[in-house]
Amino acid sequence: MKVCKTVRQIKIEINKAIRAGKSVGFVPTMGYLHDGHLSLIKRARKENDIVVVSIFVNPTQFGEGEDLESYPRDLDRDCRLVEKEGTDFVFAPSAEEMYPHGYMSYVDVEGNITKQLCGKSRVGHFKGVATVVSKLFNIVTPNKAYFGQKDAQQVAVLEQMVRDLNFNIEIVPCPIVREADGLALSSRNTYLSQKERQDALILSKSLIEAEEMIKNGERDAAKIKNFIINNIKTVEYADIDYVEIVNAKTLEDLDQIQGDVLIALAVKIGKPRLIDNIRLEV
Ligand code: PAJ
Repeated sequence: MKVCKTVRQIKIEINKAIRAGKSVGFVPTMGYLHDGHLSLIKRARKENDIVVVSIFVNPTQFGEGEDLESYPRDLDRDCRLVEKEGTDFVFAPSAEEMYPHGYMSYVDVEGNITKQLCGKSRVGHFKGVATVVSKLFNIVTPNKAYFGQKDAQQVAVLEQMVRDLNFNIEIVPCPIVREADGLALSSRNTYLSQKERQDALILSKSLIEAEEMIKNGERDAAKIKNFIINNIKTVEYADIDYVEIVNAKTLEDLDQIQGDVLIALAVKIGKPRLIDNIRLEV
């Protein structure tokens, strides 16, 4: 496995592979990798000749007062983990390499899709994501790129971007990986104390119970939403950002549970803001 820190280096390696007729699978990450990230790499390994993983804590997707400085980082550990999964190249640029002095260009997916859910409280977040992912797509030129359904809105935004801007890249959404007790894996789980870690289980539990209600015939979105909110409120210091029930593709609000349904939530449990969701075809 080779670690490239500059755009020039990684481009040389990828051009060699493409000239040799190889297909390229790409997994963009911000590092501090866990089994969720590794599940994307495993899938990419199965479906492509070469696998590229990027590790870059992207400053443009963090808002003021968010955790850019404290975001956990450990490149050596990450490299060991991805090498075990058969990764061919790691692209780990510096912030200056990606956004050199005088940098000016941004990609903004407009409308409902970026304004809802996480877009409401994290203004500018998806502009940062779309910008860095466009840059990474242009640098790595993959055939397929792998993203976790954990960040369901990110998948929807990037699918829209790929369609709108004619990227010749297939976005492959991958299922959420959870701990045995249901907690969705996240690099930000490292911020949780033991008690908060336990209390955070209310998120996945509420989603599973909501799914049960739907399976038993409940179709009133407001009822399901209130059920989840009241459940989460039993953890007295849980600070709910949103609980929403939307169409999974357009992210438009649903009154009736029908079609491709996404129940998504963001809740602060202690320091970290955790997100989780469940997607169902009804
Ligand atoms: P990051 O949070 O590091 O996540 C990288 C990828 O791993 C994303 O596609 C995310 O959805 C996926 N992932 C995270 N936790 C997961 C889990 N529990 N199960 C399955 N997949 C999971 O998302 C980003 O980085 C950034 O926004 C990025 C796309 C790299 C752009 O900077």
